Amino acid sequence: MSFNAPLGLKPAMGWNSWNTFTWDINEQLIRDAADRFVSDGYRDAGYEYIVIDDCWSLRDRDEQGNLVVDPEKFPSGMRALADYIHGKGLKFGMYSCVGTHTCAGHPGSFEHEFQDAALFAEWGVDFLKYDYCFKPRHMSGELLYKRMSLALKNCGREILFSACNWGEDGVYEWIRESGAHMYRSTEDIRDNWESIKKLALSQLGKQSYTGSFCHNDMDMLVVGMYGGSNSDFIGSIGGCSDIEYKTHFSLWSLMGSPLMIGCDIRKDQPAAREILLNPDLIAINQDLESRGAYRIKPEPQWFHDDDVFMLVKVLTDGDLAIGFFNLSDSAREISLQFWDTGLPYASGFSLSMYDCWEHRELGVFRERYAPTVGAHDCHIVRAKLVR
Ligand code: GLA
Repeated sequence: MSFNAPLGLKPAMGWNSWNTFTWDINEQLIRDAADRFVSDGYRDAGYEYIVIDDCWSLRDRDEQGNLVVDPEKFPSGMRALADYIHGKGLKFGMYSCVGTHTCAGHPGSFEHEFQDAALFAEWGVDFLKYDYCFKPRHMSGELLYKRMSLALKNCGREILFSACNWGEDGVYEWIRESGAHMYRSTEDIRDNWESIKKLALSQLGKQSYTGSFCHNDMDMLVVGMYGGSNSDFIGSIGGCSDIEYKTHFSLWSLMGSPLMIGCDIRKDQPAAREILLNPDLIAINQDLESRGAYRIKPEPQWFHDDDVFMLVKVLTDGDLAIGFFNLSDSAREISLQFWDTGLPYASGFSLSMYDCWEHRELGVFRERYAPTVGAHDCHIVRAKLVR
């Protein structure tokens, strides 16, 4: 039976220009990113959207009130770029904002929502990231997201709606009803360990607010940036180690965040590529039921700090994805008692563990499993119930 997945069923996967390039974007860069998606295996791994973030337009609308593409950066226009991206079997994303201006000061869609949605549809856009800067104070953000959602759903083209209000104004409580397919729950990520840790910890208690058709977006990935942003804000502390990028990717995968690559994928960076293409982690992220992950604090409970924890995601086929995370600065044993996952000894079941980073079977365990995990590192297993 063929089945066309409805928009937003699973967390979106793609690449976004902002983290590395900010304002310095052009059509060649976007084409190159699309080429790399195909030649380097990203498309085949499930990455789909090529997204142009802020700074693609001129500073003023035209006489009809339409947004105008910057002709120096994008001389062939957006329709041609969309055709190029579609020709590679990929999808095309763009960016606007609820306010009068975007965060970088270009025109926003306030009071132009339906007009802009129509223009995006005409250009062949498949994804819209919608930011929160310059929102008129008297307007409710909730209402403005409802507006653009309705405009997109009625523009004559399927466009995935990616809301981006940084977790403000209690967004968890109202965003799903607005019609958005994903929503940013965090402040802007930065290419350093402290930022990754802060964003992940901030969402651990909010995992019931994610799921199919409205995914909690913890922000774009910094994997592979190695301090290479042209913005001091994003890259100021000089990047992360590959172990830290591996942990970042594991957290985002288990927690069900969209996976939007933010590095310069034109560069040959085998270690970063291997992280981003890990099929076992991607399978966990893209699991059909899209359940949030729950946290288990390791034993003994009186000796815990918030930096050491396990995350368990219940998968559609009955397996458990289990992450042992050590965000602290020294190695730790992290002990899982199986009954904390709902598996008492009396059930007669054991767990057969598969290592999702080493891609090998680890054996069958009964009652308890306690790996030692290095500083800033993680250990991710897919556990199958066996008798
Ligand atoms: C905000 C968003 C970022 C990016 C910039 C663009 O800060 O949170 O992800 O889109 O705006 O100006």
